[in-house]
Amino acid sequence: MHIFRTLPELREHLGRFHRPAFVPTMGNLHDGHLSLVQQARPLGDVTVASIFVNRLQFLPHEDFDTYPRTWASDCEKLEAAGCDVLFAPDEKTLYPEPQTCKVHPDSALTDILEGHFRPGFFIGVCTVVMKLFTCVQPRTAVFGKKDYQQLMTIRHMVRQFALPIDVVGGETQRAEDGLALSSRNGYLSEAERAEAVQLSKALQSMADAIREGDRDLAAIEARAMQMLTQRGWQPDYLVLRRRTDLQAPEGTEPLVALGAARLGTTRLIDNLEIDR
Ligand code: PAF
Repeated sequence: MHIFRTLPELREHLGRFHRPAFVPTMGNLHDGHLSLVQQARPLGDVTVASIFVNRLQFLPHEDFDTYPRTWASDCEKLEAAGCDVLFAPDEKTLYPEPQTCKVHPDSALTDILEGHFRPGFFIGVCTVVMKLFTCVQPRTAVFGKKDYQQLMTIRHMVRQFALPIDVVGGETQRAEDGLALSSRNGYLSEAERAEAVQLSKALQSMADAIREGDRDLAAIEARAMQMLTQRGWQPDYLVLRRRTDLQAPEGTEPLVALGAARLGTTRLIDNLEIDR
């Protein structure tokens, strides 16, 4: 695997390929990231991953400084997963001057859910992803469905700017008990780790209710919120939304259940597409 830290080196190397397939990450890699790399491999003539902890997408009180940086094991894992190129710029390389020119994604899609609880998050994500796209110039980019709203936001940005990139969604990878793999799972204590699966169980109970024909969405959401709250969680939201635009459903459109909740000091998110 070739590792590049600067843009000229990266561009010089990638110049010989026509269809880079790209997986952007913030490092601290787990099997979820590696499955995205494996999914990317047949989609291009070179597989590129990036590791960059993007300050722009963290709020001041969030975990930018303590976000786990696990460089050596990340490199080993990427190499074993068959990644060809790793782009790992430092902050001075990606943001040589204050990044005052930013991408402001569609507010209907990004002021809600994650964007409501983490204001500015999607501006930070879209700005860095746009910049990484101009560095790598991928033909295909793979993002995990675990960050459902992020995937939809990137798809919308790519469409609106007519970027010549296919955005592909990768299925969420789960631990044996059903907990969605996430870099932030590493923050959980042993007891919290055992409890953490309840978030996906709450989403599952919402999906079950829909499949059983319950149409009182507000009541289903309230029950799921109560279920987690009673167990000591602090949920931000547990909602049923239209899959097309994450707005409140009006009829029988395909749905997705989305949830974000804090367990102790760790904030977890998850989602489940519901077929009915
Ligand atoms: O999903 C992530 O890890 C990040 O939001 C991303 C897409 C790499 C941008 O920093």
